[in-house]
Amino acid sequence: AFAPRVFSGIKPSGGLTLGNYLGAIKRFVESQNAGTESMFCVVDMHAITVWQDPVELRRATREVAAGYIASGIDPERAILFNQSQVSQHAELGWIFNCVARLGWMNRMTQFKEKAGKNAEKQSLGLYAYPSLMAADILLYHATHVPVGEDQKQHVELTRDIAAKFNHDYGVDFFPLTSPVIDGPATRVMNLRDGTKKMSKSGESDMERINMTDDADTIAKKFKKARTDPAPLPETLEALKDRPEARNLVDIYAALSDTTAETVIAEHGGAGWGQFKPALADLAVERLAPIATEMRRLMDEPAEIDRILGRGAERAREIAAPILSRTYEIVGL
Ligand code: ADP
Ligand code: NA
Repeated sequence: AFAPRVFSGIKPSGGLTLGNYLGAIKRFVESQNAGTESMFCVVDMHAITVWQDPVELRRATREVAAGYIASGIDPERAILFNQSQVSQHAELGWIFNCVARLGWMNRMTQFKEKAGKNAEKQSLGLYAYPSLMAADILLYHATHVPVGEDQKQHVELTRDIAAKFNHDYGVDFFPLTSPVIDGPATRVMNLRDGTKKMSKSGESDMERINMTDDADTIAKKFKKARTDPAPLPETLEALKDRPEARNLVDIYAALSDTTAETVIAEHGGAGWGQFKPALADLAVERLAPIATEMRRLMDEPAEIDRILGRGAERAREIAAPILSRTYEIVGL
């Protein structure tokens, strides 16, 4: 049996969004506070699977770290670190490239979505990304990975890689990690196009709420969010074919630590002229203190670097023996 350990990561490929906050960071804080040993990573080697300006990458790495800390990740209790500072990720990633099958990678829907019709023009790294993600997780024998809905398939692939490795080498060395996808906001949608998830690398700034947006910007973005014209219904079932409306209700629920049912019980019958400003106020109330703390931390980059450096040392202490044992098992 493997001791419970939580691992998750966020790419520094732009500014953090409300999707990252509700779908990931807020839940990471809850997991840390529940007392489970937790590791949170800034996965910069995943970020470079698509071109990143080097100066901006370094800034975004610090921003993600600041976002974690400002939201309540305590770098003393949790291990907070930067992927590229722990070289074992890349080393185990290579071994997993030799375990994962091309057929498995071909089924990854996120690659298909990101590549679109241009698969031939994508980096090999973007294609192999889920195998490196398996290494991120299994390098620490992590048992639970809190993620948004979009990452479910990648955590399942991680299980497949662990199972094949264990089977091929006749060992019981890697755990079959479980994805943890719960709460009302595991897939926050784009505010302008309700068929796409909100993402930090999306094209238009109006489609997402950034964690560092000011109050006026947040209010404006929710005001312009696409919805149908009907008011909020009295029952949740009636939101079934209204994805944009449902998205705003789910965001409200997640921000207020309640359920979509409760939001509908309280706001059913409200028009958008009422509900959107209430949602904006709630978002500002939750995000403003975090944004203030993020800015304070970003003004002290040396302090962030010190925290990440210490986190990397602690991560290496766990990673090194697991990688050594993997090399032994493989015969390297
Ligand atoms: P992004 O797509 O914004 O670049 P990442 O790929 O770095 O985000 O994902 C970091 C974490 O945030 C993952 O656990 C992912 O599932 C979660 N996440 C990202 N976008 C959303 C969203 N729109 N709704 C819920 N969770 C999300
Ligand atoms: Na993503």
